[in-house]
Amino acid sequence: MMKKPSKIPVHVSIIMDGNGRWAAERGKERVYGHAEGVESVRAVCEACGELGVKYLSLFAFSEENWGRPKDEVSTLMKLMAKAMKEEFETLMRNDVRLLVLGNRARIAPELNEAISNIEKATAGNKGLTMIVMLSYSGKWDILQAAKRMAEAGADDLEPFLVTAGIPDPDVIIRTSGEKRISNYFLWQAAYSEFVFTDTLWPDFRKESLCAALEEYASRDRRFGKVEENKNVF
Ligand code: IPE
Ligand code: IPE
Ligand code: MG
Repeated sequence: MMKKPSKIPVHVSIIMDGNGRWAAERGKERVYGHAEGVESVRAVCEACGELGVKYLSLFAFSEENWGRPKDEVSTLMKLMAKAMKEEFETLMRNDVRLLVLGNRARIAPELNEAISNIEKATAGNKGLTMIVMLSYSGKWDILQAAKRMAEAGADDLEPFLVTAGIPDPDVIIRTSGEKRISNYFLWQAAYSEFVFTDTLWPDFRKESLCAALEEYASRDRRFGKVEENKNVF
């Protein structure tokens, strides 16, 4: 049984990093780490549903990741397609709505179609919303939003970001010991809490999630204001 953290965020976001190093530690190819990483996605998605988290966003593939060796990129895309197929029933059973956000124009047509089908099929689910950030980068998102905002003659960028309508992440967890944002949610992270853990993504399971959320629960969020109930004058 999981020990329930004392404060449950509405939106948990994770930069899933360290698959390659996890595989290397075992003398295996990087792709082996990516495959094991899918198991962590499954575990974390299930845990978020159980804990009552409303949104779980996962940084799965960045715009910069297209620059990796062809073989690795194609394996990652194949894993994505396989997961879409294999996880469908579990998503339905657990009432999970799936969204895939990012620069969809760079994704192969067959995978895009599979993604659109699963998005449509899960659209009515009322439990956790799981958001896979695929071919995503924060700068790309701000740029595409700025263009569309100008076209519309509007003066608020937020409705044009791919995350429009989704509350900003309360907490962004990054695994594998790296302490950087790597072009992830540049706009949306304005007031997110950051939790860094040395755990490599394939080793990150329910207990690791609970520990990260416990750290989040201990943070004092002020949003630029003074502490609640404290008169400073
Ligand atoms: C995260 O693991 C998965 C993706 C970025 C696609 P990495 O593949 O970055 O693994 P490391 O950081 O090299 O260990
Ligand atoms: C960030 O990891 C992107 C994802 C987790 C999808 P990277 O491994 O690409 O980031 P850097 O290169 O270490 O900054
Ligand atoms: Mg990495």
